[in-house]
Amino acid sequence: MPPLVETRDLRIRFGATEAVRGVSLRVEPGEVLGLVGESGSGKSATALAIPGLLGPAAQVAGQILWRDNASGEAMDLLRQPESVLRTLRGRAIAMIFQEPMTALNPVMKIGRQVAECALAHDARCTRREAKARAIAALEAVAIPEAAQRYGDYPHQFSGGQRQRILIAMALMHRPRLVIADEPTTALDVTVQAQILELLKRLQQEHGMAMLFISHDLAVVGEVAHRIAVMRGGEVVETGATHRVLTAPEHEYTRSLLAAVPTMRTDRTKPLATPA
Ligand SMILES: Nc1ncnc2c1ncn2[C@@H]1O[C@H](COP(=O)(O)OP(=O)(O)OP(=O)(O)O)[C@@H](O)[C@H]1O
Ligand SMILES: [Mg+2]
Repeated sequence: MPPLVETRDLRIRFGATEAVRGVSLRVEPGEVLGLVGESGSGKSATALAIPGLLGPAAQVAGQILWRDNASGEAMDLLRQPESVLRTLRGRAIAMIFQEPMTALNPVMKIGRQVAECALAHDARCTRREAKARAIAALEAVAIPEAAQRYGDYPHQFSGGQRQRILIAMALMHRPRLVIADEPTTALDVTVQAQILELLKRLQQEHGMAMLFISHDLAVVGEVAHRIAVMRGGEVVETGATHRVLTAPEHEYTRSLLAAVPTMRTDRTKPLATPA
């Protein structure tokens, strides 16, 4: 199957910093690609380049091919006007970020924020329909008593609930691709596991593709079909999740694996740090 999205020799510079140095990645329709690597390795820069969210400071080269039509014809997202990218961001590509509080408007009721999201993308949607859709979307991500909590503000929800609300908003328009950049990093371990389960279930139900980013190989291993390992702006290894986790080819992947605590880890000793 041709990939839904593919980067070819993607290069990103911020002034003198070469953040991404020739990254070629592909995500097939319905596939979860996990992108893992240490802080500063270029994961977010790579991800933000796809929907055109890098900002004016970035110099970008290479190609980002997007195929979302029956003909299979590819469109290079690096060569599209902002209006085309804006439409894609609203419908076909959704983003979920690390810190749910900053992505929500703190002074607007949650229900209204979710309903606005329904209204923004469907001109025929009435206010009453938008409210019903918003409640259904909140129920789908297991917000308890969604109808009663419709009028609550973001600060009245827990961190995990806020992340669920953002997931509800991101999936409202049935995107083809979800880019989730460290979606569970700010949450405690139990809540992190619940959010991963939720994302995995919704991904399977909707059959959407996902680019799932984390610095934590164990977290990526939970959701991804394939894993790409980044270091210093380059992909050093790509492979099926099971293969990468059980028989890593690159020394750096091995060091990342060694840093993942397991039940057998001696917790009295410090964790191995990636070389
Ligand atoms: N807007 C920006 N302006 C200047 N430099 C930037 C900008 N965004 C990223 N960089 C630089 O690009 C490099 C890659 O950053 P990026 O955010 O992609 O890393 P990351 O792998 O997502 O790290 P983390 O795990 O900490 O989120 C870093 O050296 C970073 O300082
Ligand atoms: Mg990042």
